Amino acid sequence: MTTDSDEFATRAEAFEASENRPANSSTTANLGDVVQARYPSRRSLLRGMTAVAAVTAITTPLETLVSRAARAASAPFTFAEIEHGIDETHHVSEGYDADILIRWGDPVLADAPEFEPSAQTAAAQALQFGYNNDFVGIAPLPFGSGNSTRALLCVNHEYTNEEVMFPEIRRQDEIGFPDMTPELVAIEMAAHGGTILQVEKFAGKWRPARDRTYNRRITADTPMQISGPAAGHDRLKTKADPTGRQVRGTLNNCAGGITPWGTYLMAEENFHGYFWGKLSRFHPEVRNYKRYGVPGNWYVWGRYHDRFDIAKEPNEANRFGWVVEVDPYDPASTPVKRTAMGRFKHEGAHPIINGDGRVVIYQGDDQQFDYLYKFVSEGRYDPNNRAANRDLLDRGTLYVARFDADGTMSWLPLVHGRGPLTLANGFASQADVLIETRRAADLLEATPMDRPEDVEPNPVTNAVYVMLTNNSRRKTGKADAANPRTRNMFGHILELTPPDGDHGAKTYRWDILVMCGDPSKPEHRTRWGSATSENGWFGSPDNCAVDHQGRLWVTTDQGERWARTGTADGVWALETEGSGRGSGRMFFRVPVGAEMCGPVFTPDDQTLFVAVQHVAVDGAKDYKPFGKVSSFADPATRWPDFDPKMPPRPSVVAITRNGGGRIGG
Ligand code: FEO
Ligand code: CA
Ligand code: CA
Ligand code: CA
Repeated sequence: MTTDSDEFATRAEAFEASENRPANSSTTANLGDVVQARYPSRRSLLRGMTAVAAVTAITTPLETLVSRAARAASAPFTFAEIEHGIDETHHVSEGYDADILIRWGDPVLADAPEFEPSAQTAAAQALQFGYNNDFVGIAPLPFGSGNSTRALLCVNHEYTNEEVMFPEIRRQDEIGFPDMTPELVAIEMAAHGGTILQVEKFAGKWRPARDRTYNRRITADTPMQISGPAAGHDRLKTKADPTGRQVRGTLNNCAGGITPWGTYLMAEENFHGYFWGKLSRFHPEVRNYKRYGVPGNWYVWGRYHDRFDIAKEPNEANRFGWVVEVDPYDPASTPVKRTAMGRFKHEGAHPIINGDGRVVIYQGDDQQFDYLYKFVSEGRYDPNNRAANRDLLDRGTLYVARFDADGTMSWLPLVHGRGPLTLANGFASQADVLIETRRAADLLEATPMDRPEDVEPNPVTNAVYVMLTNNSRRKTGKADAANPRTRNMFGHILELTPPDGDHGAKTYRWDILVMCGDPSKPEHRTRWGSATSENGWFGSPDNCAVDHQGRLWVTTDQGERWARTGTADGVWALETEGSGRGSGRMFFRVPVGAEMCGPVFTPDDQTLFVAVQHVAVDGAKDYKPFGKVSSFADPATRWPDFDPKMPPRPSVVAITRNGGGRIGG
C-alpha cells in the first residue's frame, strides 16, 4: 500500500516523523519577539539559589518559593548517579536491584501456554503478556488499601514491531506488507491493548502472583462501550454497530492514569496508523481525517478486516483516539471509551482531585504543533462510594491551553455554541466538537506545542509538569514563549502553577523548568540547574512520575536519535525546588534500541516500576558494535533473556533498594 499524500507518513517515519509530524497546519502568530523580551532575564537559572529565586519570582508567588525551599531540604536525592552510555543491557544506580517482572509472551491468564517465539499463535498471545509495554499503573490490593506489597499492575501495550517479533520478515510498512498473513495480523492485534496482572512482593522481590483472579488481557478486539456526549452519534455508527455505542478494541495505548476510584485509564495515541484505504474526495470526513493523519498505513490490518479500511468502513476511525476507562477490580467489566475527554492522540490521562472534589485530568496530544488539554468533571468525586464515581468522566468541560508571553496561560473551553464552535464552522453539537477536538482547538487559537507527552500534577505542590519531547519542524520565526527554541531537537519541560492550587481555574502561571540537551554545547541553548552533572542532562522527555515526597522523575524517548546525546534512554531524577531546581541526575538506563516508559512508584516509594519497550529497535544501526537494523534472527540485543533462541522482549522491571528503603534516598 502506498500513499499519495505527504500528510500520511508511513510507520517507517513513525517516531521520527509520524508521531512527530505536524498534522496542524494552522500554527499561530510569531511570538518570537515577545519571547526574547521574556527570555534574557530568565537565563540566570544556572547561577544558583539567589538567581533562581529572583527569576522564578516573575511567575511564582512568594509562599510557593518558601515552601519549595522547605521541601527541598526534607528529601534530597542521594543515590549514586549512573553514566550516560549505551550497551546491550540495563543499568541502575549502585545499591539498587532492577529485576525483570514480566516479559512479552509470559503467561497472564491461567490457561496461557509458555511462550514459544517460533510457534506463536493469536490464541496464545491473547492469554500472554502483550508487546511494547508503555504505561504502568498500580491499583493496590485490596482496593483502597494503599498496600505496597500486593497490587494489580495495569500495563498498556502500545504497538508491535514485526521485524523483531516474527521470524524471517523485514519491517513491513516500508515494503508494502508482502509477508503479512491473517494469522500474523491476528497475533499483532492480540499483542496490543493492555494487561491487568496481579503482583506481589515476596521476600523483598516482586513476582506475578499465583492467584490470577483479576488477571486480564485487553486487546484490539475486546468489546467496549462508547459513552459521553459523542456516544450514539451518526459519525460513530458502522455496519457492525448501528448504535454507535459499541466498539471492538483499543489501539496504540501509550501512557494513561489510575483514578482515585481505582480505574485504569488507557490513552489511545497514534490510532491513525491502523487504518488504510481512501475516502472519496467529497466524503464528509475528509477534513477530519486529514487533521489526524488517517489513514496512517502503518499496519496491514485493513487487508483482512474491513473496519480498518476507511473506504469500506468510513466511520471506524472516529471510534478511536479516545481515553478508555477500565475497572481492574472487575475482570468481567466492559471497558468504556469516555468521549467527553476529547478525541486526539492522547499521550496519557493523569487525574487529580481538585480541592472542590471535581476530577481534573491533564492530557497531551502528542504531535508536533498540537495541544495541551485538561478535562474538568461536572460532578464531584465521592471517596466513600466507589460506584458513585463510575460515570464521572462522562460529563464535564474539556479545555485547551493557550500560553501567553507574560507568564500566564488560559484554559479555553471546547463547548459547542461558544465562540467559533458553531454550525457555521461545521459543529452541529458537542459530539462534533469532541470528534474533531483538534479542529475545534485550532479555531480557539490554542498554542501549538513541541509535542506534549506526559502531563502530570504534583499532589504535594500542585505544580503540573508538561513533558514536551521535541519538535524538529519548528521553523525560524515560529518560536513562542512556551516553545522558545526553533528546531527543538531535545525538548523541554514546563511547570504550570494553578492559582492557590485550584486545578479548576481558567488561568494559571507557567514557567520553563528545563530546556533539554547538552549544557556544555552552547548551540543546544539549554537551561539546567547548577547541580546538573555531566550525566544529569537528557533529551526528549516523554513520561514522568512524581513520587510520594513530591519529587519529579523523568523518562526519555529519543527514538532513532539517541546518538545525538550519546546515551540510551533512561530515568532521571529532576529537582524542582530550592537551589537545585532544574538539576538532573541519572538513575537507570535501558538497553540499546529501547525506550523508557511507565515510571510509577508504590505507595511506600520503595519500588519503582518501569517499562522497557521496543528493545533492539530504535537506532540499532548507530550502535557501533552492531551497526545495522535489527531482525528476529539477528537483533542488537537479546535482552532480557540473552538466550540465542529468544528474541528481545519488552518487559516491565521492578526497581528496589538493596535491603529496602525509599527509591532515590
Ligand atoms: Fe507513545 Fe507519545 O509516546
Ligand atoms: Ca510516550
Ligand atoms: Ca506518568
Ligand atoms: Ca514516545
